[in-house]
Amino acid sequence: MEFIKSTFLVFGATGRTGQHFVSIALKEGHKVRALVRNPEKMKIESTNLELIKGSISDYKHIDELLHGVDFVICMLGNAQEQNKGLVNTPFTKRLIPAMRRQGVKRFLYQAGGFTRRYKERLPLMTWIMKNIFARYAGLLGQHKDNEAVIEFLVEEAQDIDWIVHRASIISDGPSKGILKRDRTKVSLVTFEDCARYIYEILKDNSAIHTCDLSYYC
Ligand SMILES: NC(=O)c1ccc[n+]([C@@H]2O[C@H](COP(=O)([O-])OP(=O)(O)OC[C@H]3O[C@@H](n4cnc5c(N)ncnc54)[C@H](OP(=O)(O)O)[C@@H]3O)[C@@H](O)[C@H]2O)c1
Repeated sequence: MEFIKSTFLVFGATGRTGQHFVSIALKEGHKVRALVRNPEKMKIESTNLELIKGSISDYKHIDELLHGVDFVICMLGNAQEQNKGLVNTPFTKRLIPAMRRQGVKRFLYQAGGFTRRYKERLPLMTWIMKNIFARYAGLLGQHKDNEAVIEFLVEEAQDIDWIVHRASIISDGPSKGILKRDRTKVSLVTFEDCARYIYEILKDNSAIHTCDLSYYC
């Protein structure tokens, strides 16, 4: 699959991965539409960037957001709220039916390296690290939310071309190289490299219905 002047609908566009993704998509000549709570946080300006103010938790006009959209990218995170309950999951459950209604097929969801695949356990060392680092950082709720999104996608959205990236981001430094998809290999990556990887993997038909990690090749 190739991108020919596409329109990307981005959730989480003001975030650390999101801003890099928006920048890449615009530089590659595409249009970006983004639902953002705080438009002033967006550092990028472009006539091809359309910011719509709103929150995923109560936004009512998802069908309108999807008009003319080719790809939907979700790089959302709110660890505090996700520790109280599911946030991205109820939103995804509203988004996917709207995508069906609007004929939008491809969906990229960014989860984490500590997020379990559907009905699979994490490798023992990863599980131990999760229970040290993710617990200490207050990210267990975020992974639980991501896992519930994956469960919904696997069980109820096989008609959608979804791709889950289980990212292991660590820094906002410069690029450290090119990332490749893998079931088991994982690297600690920069937000910029993660965003470039997401941009590339969206075109990759072999990534559809996978929940893979990424590593520097
Ligand atoms: N950071 C990491 O090291 C890391 C590692 C592995 C995986 N991940 C995964 O990657 C995803 C993105 O991470 P990140 O670090 O790039 O995110 P981030 O910098 O924390 O940004 C999160 C984005 O989500 C937006 N958001 C949160 N709640 C929202 C709501 N109710 N309505 C609309 N937008 C909302 C935020 O908007 P505001 O600007 O308005 O807050 C922000 O744009 C996370 O879900 C996480 O699971 C991250």
